[in-house]
Amino acid sequence: MQVIETIHEMHQQMIAENKQFKKIGYVPTMGYLHEGHLSLIKKSKSENDITVLSIFVNPLQFGPKEDLSTYPRDFERDYQLALKEGVDYIFYPTVNEMYPTETSVKVMVQSRTDVLCGRSRPGHFDGVATVLVKLFNIIGPNRVYFGLKDAQQVAVVEGLIQDFHFPIELIPVETLREHDGLAKSSRNVFLSEEERKEAPALFKSLQMAKQEMENGEHDIEKIITLMKDYLKSHTSGVVDYIEIYSYPQLEPIQDSTEKIIIALAVKFSKARLIDNIIIQK
Ligand code: PAJ
Repeated sequence: MQVIETIHEMHQQMIAENKQFKKIGYVPTMGYLHEGHLSLIKKSKSENDITVLSIFVNPLQFGPKEDLSTYPRDFERDYQLALKEGVDYIFYPTVNEMYPTETSVKVMVQSRTDVLCGRSRPGHFDGVATVLVKLFNIIGPNRVYFGLKDAQQVAVVEGLIQDFHFPIELIPVETLREHDGLAKSSRNVFLSEEERKEAPALFKSLQMAKQEMENGEHDIEKIITLMKDYLKSHTSGVVDYIEIYSYPQLEPIQDSTEKIIIALAVKFSKARLIDNIIIQK
């Protein structure tokens, strides 16, 4: 496994792999790897000749009041985990390498961002899309792997790949959970002991909503209220949003809707957690 810190070297290596007709699978991350990340790596390993992992905490996607400075980092641990999974290259650039000057061009995401995290984190998806354009150009993968835990991110990246004609196949991967249902996340380490005990309520409320819908409940507001009440009585967190849309369009549900996403964000004292489930209508 090679660790590469410069854009130039990464680019050269990928050109060399390409010349040998190697299929390149790519897993973009911000590090502090957990089994959710590892499941993306495993999938990439099983479908490609080469797997590239990038670790870069992208300042552009954090709002001024968000957790950029405290975002958990541990490269040594990430290195060992990646090595064990059989990753071929880790791209590990510094902020200065990726953004040597203030960016003169940023990508602005036009649709699918006025809801969910896009609404409560203005500019977040512009930051994600901008860094991904850079990373896709540097690495030039055949396939990229994204987790459905961040389902809105998957929807946005789908638009980015289509609109900017990247010759890349997007592979969405199911959310990996703890035994009690809590979605694995780098931010879970910020939960207090008490909050960690409460956190499975997020997934429980999603399952409750799913059950309601499968039982024929069509009143979205009623379902959202039910979830809100459940979360209020089972956690000390503050609900940021609970929303239900068509997926991946993220529009109000219509007769023609095929897939539905039920998504939520809850703010605990030091961590804001998100989760969702996608169901067939
Ligand atoms: P990060 O939060 O590190 O997540 C990297 C990838 O891991 C994302 O595709 C995310 O959806 C996936 N992931 C996280 N938790 C998961 C889980 N429990 N199960 C399955 N997959 C999971 O998402 C980002 O980084 C950044 O926005 C990035 C795309 C790297 C751009 O900076």
